[in-house]
Amino acid sequence: MPTLRYFRRPLLKQSLESVFTVNPSQTVNQSDAKPLDVARIRADFPILSRTVNGKPLVYLDNAATTQKPKPVIAAVQHVYESMNANIHRGVHRLSVETTAAYEKSRLQVARLINAAKESEIVFVRGATEGINLVAQTFGRTHLVEGDEIIVSTLEHHANIVPWQILCEQTGAQLKVVPVDDDANFLIDEYKKLLSEKTRIVAMLQSSNALGTVIPVTEVTRLAHDVGATVLIDGSQSVQHHPVDVREIDCDFYVFSGHKMYAPSGVGVLYGKEALLASMPPYQGGGEMIKSVTFEQTIYNDLPHKFEAGTPNIEGTIGLGAAIAYLQDIGLSNIAAYEAQLLKYATEQLSKIPEVRLIGTAKEKVSVISFVVEGIHPHDIGTVLDQEGVAIRTGHHCAQPTMQRFNVPATARASMCFYNTEADIDQLVDAIQKTIKVFA
Ligand code: ALA
Repeated sequence: MPTLRYFRRPLLKQSLESVFTVNPSQTVNQSDAKPLDVARIRADFPILSRTVNGKPLVYLDNAATTQKPKPVIAAVQHVYESMNANIHRGVHRLSVETTAAYEKSRLQVARLINAAKESEIVFVRGATEGINLVAQTFGRTHLVEGDEIIVSTLEHHANIVPWQILCEQTGAQLKVVPVDDDANFLIDEYKKLLSEKTRIVAMLQSSNALGTVIPVTEVTRLAHDVGATVLIDGSQSVQHHPVDVREIDCDFYVFSGHKMYAPSGVGVLYGKEALLASMPPYQGGGEMIKSVTFEQTIYNDLPHKFEAGTPNIEGTIGLGAAIAYLQDIGLSNIAAYEAQLLKYATEQLSKIPEVRLIGTAKEKVSVISFVVEGIHPHDIGTVLDQEGVAIRTGHHCAQPTMQRFNVPATARASMCFYNTEADIDQLVDAIQKTIKVFA
């Protein structure tokens, strides 16, 4: 076959260099934290000025999804208004610009989590798809009957079910690290489960349902000591504090855009280069190939090997805008502010005698789960909605966590840096009103 040479690559490289102006990954010490200008931040989120049932919206369902700041909305709008094209496929100006903006987001993600290389960042639909990808490529290739996978009691269903499917396919077994009555992770119990049979340790960094933070660096070190591969689910971490995957030394790290102020339908799988390179593709299609004939297909280089089909282009560019926004505020500053807010909310809710907190671990992100004796969480959520307060009620996609604490469901207030003590006061008032309604 005659070979025609073309020069898309240099053109793209030039465009990328002109847009790469992001700051390096932030790993500022928490003691350096600066106070946030929350009024200014709130003005960046148009939705926060709306009312619900005639009351100002108090949005406390950030673990389910976060609201979007103007720069993220503007970035998505800008794509449609000014550059929209498919990526990695065209030599025309729009395609080159859109490709550059998309690849800029990859660099921003790499810097956010301190990955060694951009090629270690795979864009997926969300954390769920990232975990399924690892289970079905790395897991399916390496696990056999008798091997073991360790998770924690607190996992989201997304970090349980893909491993159960893998266990069904391979004959491997799932082992679960318990938590104590405050929902603290029991590292000594974890050590007891580790053995030469352990092939994968898959664990969240922070619990979406209860807020517990798991010491993932130690978890990873111990797993590596027995030769296991480690996946960390950072869906409730990357938006709350600085994350450094090289410091954790995990093999894989996943998170979702929509929980970190970016659009939904885009997420990240980080993987160490050698591991990603050794894994078979997850899905076949366009973009993940170098060449296709009916006799043989040659797969593309990392990370494109795992990015079959047209991705969520505008969402990914929006993710880059969300990262820039977070870095502008500073993740250490966010962590310090949210820790204060969690402390205040915990104190205020603890003053209501009918409220029982579920999950009072020593280290938590800003999530508070609770039950009120005699009132179903869904009824709490419904009355709170009448007061303009949005929380999540239910099992939070973590039914085993609910089972551990013998509750069918909890009410959950999940806070972030645009929430205030006034929001917590409105939550407390609304809970007290609910208690009166059901008394
Ligand atoms: N997993 C999301 C939550 O925690 C949807 O609410």
